[in-house]
Amino acid sequence: MKVLAILYKGGSAAKEEPRLLGTVENQLGIREWLESQGHEYVVSDSKEGPDSDFQKHIVDAEVLITTPFHPGYLTAELFEKAKKLKICITAGVGSDHIDLNSAVKNGVQVLEVSGSNVVSVAEHVVMSILLLVRNFVPAHEVIERGDWQVSDVARNAFDLEGKVVGTIGAGRIGYRVLQRLLPFDCKELIYYDYAPLPEAAAKTVNARRVEDLKDFVSQCDVVTVNCPLHEGTRGLVNADLLKHFKKGAWLVNTARGAICDKDAVAAAIKSGQINGYAGDVWNVQPAPKDHSWRTMKNPLGGGNGMVPHYSGTTLDAQARYARGTKSILENYLTSKAQEPQNVIVGVGKYETKAYGQR
Ligand code: NAI
Repeated sequence: MKVLAILYKGGSAAKEEPRLLGTVENQLGIREWLESQGHEYVVSDSKEGPDSDFQKHIVDAEVLITTPFHPGYLTAELFEKAKKLKICITAGVGSDHIDLNSAVKNGVQVLEVSGSNVVSVAEHVVMSILLLVRNFVPAHEVIERGDWQVSDVARNAFDLEGKVVGTIGAGRIGYRVLQRLLPFDCKELIYYDYAPLPEAAAKTVNARRVEDLKDFVSQCDVVTVNCPLHEGTRGLVNADLLKHFKKGAWLVNTARGAICDKDAVAAAIKSGQINGYAGDVWNVQPAPKDHSWRTMKNPLGGGNGMVPHYSGTTLDAQARYARGTKSILENYLTSKAQEPQNVIVGVGKYETKAYGQR
């Protein structure tokens, strides 16, 4: 059996730090185990274009392992060539880089390691909210360049206490964000999700559901995006929706870059319609050098909390998603039932309700 893994290149960091398991160098720690059972294990970061290892090996791979941090985009067209493919495993959470409708059509299962990095991301979201609201990045830049102009940064620094924070998507990550925000004494915590939280869970975090998205964003000082990318969320935060945000609100997106319209966000920051944008996910990954989100700034020169896609790939998270990937593979190889929460697409049908209402 051929197992193909598309992972990111870790370079010298991965050689020095074996816990960087999600890299080409450290190969999720499963090479020996797979080869000892006689399987072929191909690992590469080369994923774009017809000459890439991804496209070369997908034609006879039975198992594809990919990671959202360096997504190998398995398109409908590539599915046509992947004649032997039976199962796609996402080492992490978020399988939007796989054309899920084609997976359904072609009888290919898609599994992810649900829950493996949800705390990692929720912590990053809380950090990003704080760094935007408190104007942290420009304040640090003042120090780095040898200045000490307090008023330049304090003019756009606020407290999170007393603000309304809302999450689009209140699943594993969204809910953990709400839990972590409780001690900050926000004015209100609200959420937008077609799946309402169980009553007890909503009560625990004292969160109110708002059913209309425009109405929802118009009430928020901070919006955080925590839903998967699918047909119903691609471009959800666009120029039209941004007009309904409170002027000067902050937006944090660690879900998927393409949920927010790239140009509309950059324009809204530039005009001051939103005061800041932070996150680690981009519409294309790796993001091109001239991507506007790298350098966009609000009229006061701040409001940018962008980083590369790493919130869900802390060393703690890598240990969990590497272990989870191995366990999914083990189940597959021994024909054992998979953990239901990991199954996004079963044979011929969606098993999750999180990737859109069907
Ligand atoms: P989950 O499946 O537990 O929760 C997703 C929630 O979003 C569900 O409650 C679902 O009903 C809701 N949802 C779906 N479509 C919606 C829509 N149109 N409007 C409002 N809500 C909608 O997923 P989890 O674990 O919370 O992860 C969410 C996403 O976060 C992943 O799909 C992935 O894209 C992203 N993620 C990012 C990471 C990173 O490193 N930046 C790491 C892990 C996940």
